[in-house]
Amino acid sequence: MQVAHSVESDAYPFEINRIGDVAGAEIIGLDLSKPIDIATRDAIMRAFLEHHVLVFRDQDLTKDQQAAFSENFGTLEHHVGRLPNGEPFPIVHTVTNLGPDGKPLGEKMGKGNFHWHTDKSYHEVPSLMTMLHAKQVPADGGDTQFANTRMGYAALPEATKDRIAEMKAEHSWEASRRNTKSPPATEEQKRERPPVTHPVVRTHPDTKDKILYVGCHVSHIHDMPRDESDDLLAELMDHTTQPKFVYSHRWRKGDYVMWDNRCLLHRASPNFDTANEARVLHRTVIIGTKPY
Ligand SMILES: [Fe+2]
Repeated sequence: MQVAHSVESDAYPFEINRIGDVAGAEIIGLDLSKPIDIATRDAIMRAFLEHHVLVFRDQDLTKDQQAAFSENFGTLEHHVGRLPNGEPFPIVHTVTNLGPDGKPLGEKMGKGNFHWHTDKSYHEVPSLMTMLHAKQVPADGGDTQFANTRMGYAALPEATKDRIAEMKAEHSWEASRRNTKSPPATEEQKRERPPVTHPVVRTHPDTKDKILYVGCHVSHIHDMPRDESDDLLAELMDHTTQPKFVYSHRWRKGDYVMWDNRCLLHRASPNFDTANEARVLHRTVIIGTKPY
């Protein structure tokens, strides 16, 4: 069990406690449904860069309030997916294991989120942060896991760092669907989201740390035989998702979590009763900057 401990108390104008070894801090006492001032916003951003995953406890935001809070941190982004009626997802998208009849889908639920990824790396300009607000959580499990790819990079052998220093990889929605054994991308989605190329090692635009930028949206590394690329990607993924680099977040109802997609991989854990328990989260995403 991980024990919360307080962070230097005078550094932040709110109670903040570290809750994970490699990422994660909880913030107590802020009400995100109300407007925040610039000083609070800036303090949240400092905490975000320090801890990578922030968990605001005991929140209860409407979707409009979540959109308004999210916009303190940048521009909201739409999702590439479509609802069953063909419409785009709304700007505050519901992540749920419930079907149209309100019952848990069990085995029929999509599995893409169970694979390690960094949000929207199949975009030329991927996500800065993602926010999830827990509305219904299973009694046990349904965790979201975060792998620290800054620590993963730092712990690589020097020879591997040298080898991958200048490598570039192709990311695409199509590859993501293939890698996660999900229904294939539609022609419309392929047109809307053509493949993009990113460095395998990116520099965090705020902290300037070097970071492994991989995950299930990656198709292949350029200028390399495909089997060699597959082996190297698997090696890097296995390395940076070792338990020693992972924080697993056990959700409480009301948690409002924001994380840094530039230095973390994440995945949902299917460690709950998907056929009988509801897991419903409201999601917003803030657009980042082009990786370099
Ligand atoms: Fe995600």
